[in-house]
Amino acid sequence: MCGILGYVGPRQAAPLILDGLRRLEYRGYDSAGIAVVADSVEDRVIDVRKAKGKIERLAGILDREPLAGTVGIGHTRWATHGVPSDANAHPHTDASGRFVVVHNGIIENFHELKRSLLADGHVFTSETDTEVLAHLVAEEYDGNLVEAVRRAVRHAAGAYALVVMSAAEPERIVAVRKVSPLVVGLGDGETFLASDIPAVLQHTRDFLVIEDGELVVIDAAGATVELIGGGVVHRPVLHVDWDAEQAEKGGFEHFMLKEIYEQPAVVTETVSGRLEASGEVWLEGVGFDDAFAASIEHLWITACGTAYHAGLVGREIFSRLLRIPTSVEFAHEMRYADPLVTAPSLTVAISQSGETADTLAAARLARSRGSRLLALTNVVGSTLSREADDILYTRAGPEISVASTKAYSAMLVAQYLLALRIGRVRGVVDADLSERIGRGLHALPGQVEAVLGDEESVAKAAIQIADAQDVYFIGRGLDYAVAMEGSLKLKEISYLHSEAMPAGELKHGTLALVTKGTPVIVVLTQGAVYDKTMSAVQEVKARGATVLAVGYEDDSSIGSFADDVLRIPRTDDLLSPVTAIVPLQLLAYHVARLRGHDIDQPRNLAKSVTVE
Ligand code: M6R
Repeated sequence: MCGILGYVGPRQAAPLILDGLRRLEYRGYDSAGIAVVADSVEDRVIDVRKAKGKIERLAGILDREPLAGTVGIGHTRWATHGVPSDANAHPHTDASGRFVVVHNGIIENFHELKRSLLADGHVFTSETDTEVLAHLVAEEYDGNLVEAVRRAVRHAAGAYALVVMSAAEPERIVAVRKVSPLVVGLGDGETFLASDIPAVLQHTRDFLVIEDGELVVIDAAGATVELIGGGVVHRPVLHVDWDAEQAEKGGFEHFMLKEIYEQPAVVTETVSGRLEASGEVWLEGVGFDDAFAASIEHLWITACGTAYHAGLVGREIFSRLLRIPTSVEFAHEMRYADPLVTAPSLTVAISQSGETADTLAAARLARSRGSRLLALTNVVGSTLSREADDILYTRAGPEISVASTKAYSAMLVAQYLLALRIGRVRGVVDADLSERIGRGLHALPGQVEAVLGDEESVAKAAIQIADAQDVYFIGRGLDYAVAMEGSLKLKEISYLHSEAMPAGELKHGTLALVTKGTPVIVVLTQGAVYDKTMSAVQEVKARGATVLAVGYEDDSSIGSFADDVLRIPRTDDLLSPVTAIVPLQLLAYHVARLRGHDIDQPRNLAKSVTVE
């Protein structure tokens, strides 16, 4: 998840782009850069300034070495291929420096493309997937930039918002979109390109939203939208009335809701470039060899809060697919518990921030006892990632809301990928199973999208819960893991007491608290234990509970037992946590909203708990 900006008009491009990049910094902030077509010379050249670190570092460089020119592109990066560094920062150019690109997304087949370009004598200066695009455009250029871009992206598989500028055609910028977001801002004698509307909202309120599979050419007079394959598109102008605060949140009322809605894209990005159609998995930062994967005798997962709940799902995934004993431990417990960690084992430390003090301590302890340490984190260059033997980055982009949502989904997806990677080596996941799960993973973004499409039903269900004193969440197996996370979401932002427990545990105590009208939320996706969970539903119904169920859309039994059902698309039962959590995140959001709380910054909590 990176931020992109482009400008053509009468004003100096660099300061304007720098300002826009500051507004896009939430999309990534490990490095940034700007390129402009220098306007001082006859034979126009492209000048680039870029730097590792926050945008302020780039601002300092531009103060010392300003860029003069009225056509330019800029980028703020969230590293995927290649560490954050000056060389890996965008923009990237071809060897001649006459073609320059910025890119958000992942080019899945960049290895093959790079190999073939290297064989043709191209010289690369970065480790990024993006740089191949600059070389491809240069290779395809024969006097028409639009056609060169069209031909170049035909070679590329994956997701991209790609913006291309050339010294050969300095008055215009060409961009294409596949999956990653892109908008055009229409000003008076000036035109903008950006990853999202707020980045340029102070300059214009008129936008063209570029859709998947489209190409756009901007110049000072406006924009022309076409299909990548050819054919003009007539896109109506979108006039935006958002105020500054709404703009920062992309038009959503809260960052939490915005981040919930980003989940389809986050799932796509986390899978992108890592999973072949055949089910083969390639995890760029996971360096252990096949011999190690085959030798693992125990898997440890350690984490806190939402990341721990992701670990609960991980335990089921690893135990079921790999048949390796897997323990999931609260990091704050594990660090003082003298755990029986020995080699050969793999410890997966899960942390969105990569800075949670307890998780770091538990991870260090496991490593000191001979376990190999894998960091599953969202933040490139975080302490956890620096200390680990292997790194599996989620690609959720910066998460602003204290209540974690999109980072959780990305953690789940990353664990499926890790299980496939290890399972293939150990011979317990065959090609068919791997392909089946791979297909399921690729279908998830659309399925999450479908759940989001029914937010209204969730909002209605929230009204029934908003005045409750206590809410109980139940489920079995993976559904129990999801129930735990649903319950945490509800309590942390609505301040409503809630507990989650395995459905079978109810009758051992908690059932005493269930009386007429007590809300009980049941997650019901696991076919193997469906009837068993249903018995628990009957038990609470018999005590007068109001039952809200999360179940598959084609489940025809559930409606006769539950008072209300939040439906999710049918998936492989192993993958259902990714969709089943979405209505529960929305439920927590709507309950908190009805109760009038500060949703993004709940009381007493911090985004990152860096103290013990
Ligand atoms: O950054 P981490 O993933 O290590 O954070 C762990 C927990 O503090 C975090 O998941 C917390 O529980 C969430 N804010 C809950 O939404």
